[in-house]
Amino acid sequence: MKFFIDSANTQLIGKFLDMNIVDGVTTNPSLLAKEGANPIDQAKKILKLVPGPVSIEVVATEYDKMVNEARSISKLGKNAVVKIPMTKEGMHAVHTLSQENIKINVTLIFSATQALIAAKAGATYVSPFVGRLDDIGQNGMELVRDILLIFKNYSIKTQTLVASVRHPIHLIEAAKLGADVATVPPDVLDRMFSHPLTDSGLKKFLDDWKTLEKQYGDVFKLPI
Ligand code: G3P
Repeated sequence: MKFFIDSANTQLIGKFLDMNIVDGVTTNPSLLAKEGANPIDQAKKILKLVPGPVSIEVVATEYDKMVNEARSISKLGKNAVVKIPMTKEGMHAVHTLSQENIKINVTLIFSATQALIAAKAGATYVSPFVGRLDDIGQNGMELVRDILLIFKNYSIKTQTLVASVRHPIHLIEAAKLGADVATVPPDVLDRMFSHPLTDSGLKKFLDDWKTLEKQYGDVFKLPI
């Protein structure tokens, strides 16, 4: 499963890129607004920083305007993916844009029928929002399971990008189901590294080593 980072913060993105943990980035208008910078400048910075796909969302809601915004976004970088919301006008735009080989991430997917429609229109990715479904008492991961099964049944190439991830369990479940991608907020990525037994285990190793150092000093001092 690929990991994308759900963030528009270049510092945080860079931190995880340095570890080769993330394969791409997803942004949305709310994430770009959080950065406070000119959104196009910020998007350009992210596209330059990241070798993999970077999703940037249109804000228009009418077909013509969406298509124009999407074409502008796609010109920002070779790795730009245009996020289009799951609406009728949006799917019309997806059909037009996919014929121009523009990569599309259909966002705000909350049902399997929406995912199927988006795939038929020509989406490269569909983004089911699992956390927001969980929030209203529906099972987000069941939706991912359904989409993956439907796409498999018909050999649909559209990738399932699990979004609105709230905790590491979402990621384990997504990976067990065989989702293509999960987009993960930085704080959830951080939480994926830690386990209390790792911390206590490391502390014990280092404390024990200190007793040796008292006797032998820094044994790693060159030359060994
Ligand atoms: O980028 C879309 C998505 O991941 C949003 O997540 O936490 O706002 O529901 P959230």
